[in-house]
Amino acid sequence: MGTIEVETTAANLRSRLDKERAAGRLVGLVPTMGYLHGGHASLIDAAVAGNDLTVVSVFVNPLQFTPDEDLADYPRDMETDLKVCTRHGADLVFTPAVREMYPESGLPVVEVGDLAFCFEGASRPTHFPGVVSAVSRLFQIIGTCRAYFGEKDFQQLAVVRQMVADYSIPVGVVGCPTVRAHDGLALSSRNAYLTSAEREEASVLHRALQVGAEIVVGGETDPEVVTALMAEVIDAATTGELDYVAVVDPDTFETPSRITGTGVRLLVACQFGQARLIDNMGAVPA
Ligand code: PAJ
Repeated sequence: MGTIEVETTAANLRSRLDKERAAGRLVGLVPTMGYLHGGHASLIDAAVAGNDLTVVSVFVNPLQFTPDEDLADYPRDMETDLKVCTRHGADLVFTPAVREMYPESGLPVVEVGDLAFCFEGASRPTHFPGVVSAVSRLFQIIGTCRAYFGEKDFQQLAVVRQMVADYSIPVGVVGCPTVRAHDGLALSSRNAYLTSAEREEASVLHRALQVGAEIVVGGETDPEVVTALMAEVIDAATTGELDYVAVVDPDTFETPSRITGTGVRLLVACQFGQARLIDNMGAVPA
């Protein structure tokens, strides 16, 4: 296992990647905020499998944190992150300083549509504008590539796809399945905030999604019946505070009046002590 290349400046990275592309090589990008776990690693695996050169970006993006979430508390471990990237075959890690990502001269504002202000965006209206600031800047720096995002953050994936379409950005967005712990809890850097009691309870989110998906597969067409059942499963098993459960169209994030054959996405968000956890699952009637 060689030493992985680390790049901190946009200009150096760009000229390096331009040379790769000129030589006909495909570039894969995995944007992250670091503290890498098995979910991130699965994105790196997909990028390595589908491209000639894989870049992992590690940047804790200040713009996507809300004032009540402490940016300084976000877990960081660059040494382990570099090991994970190396072990999974990434070629390059991009770790820009805040000023490198957001130059003092400012950047054009990237507009985001309605998708960015429902659900996750309703309780945190500055979150997705912050996400697209970082992601659009990364896309500009990296240039033409395939970029890998987790379905774990299903709304983020939709917002990024929308931005790429709206601005005709030459990036192929690839969604990858959620990686879960043995009890079903989706892996997340934020799980580090859970106490051991909360950690045990948190698997209820996945159980609730499974129960909801089961009745959709079984023919239930009323979204309210599905959300009521999911909320019941969660309320019965946890002290966590439910933020929302929803049944939505996977493209528009609107709740259909009836669930049809094309299927829906089930969403859940719940506050467990310090940690706000989100999860989702697809469900298509049999
Ligand atoms: P971060 O939370 O570090 O996540 C980086 C990527 O890993 C995202 O695409 C996320 O969906 C994916 N991911 C997280 N947990 C996963 C899991 N259990 N299974 C599969 N994929 C998972 O999301 C961000 O960072 C930031 O918003 C970012 C896109 C980097 C912009 O700042």
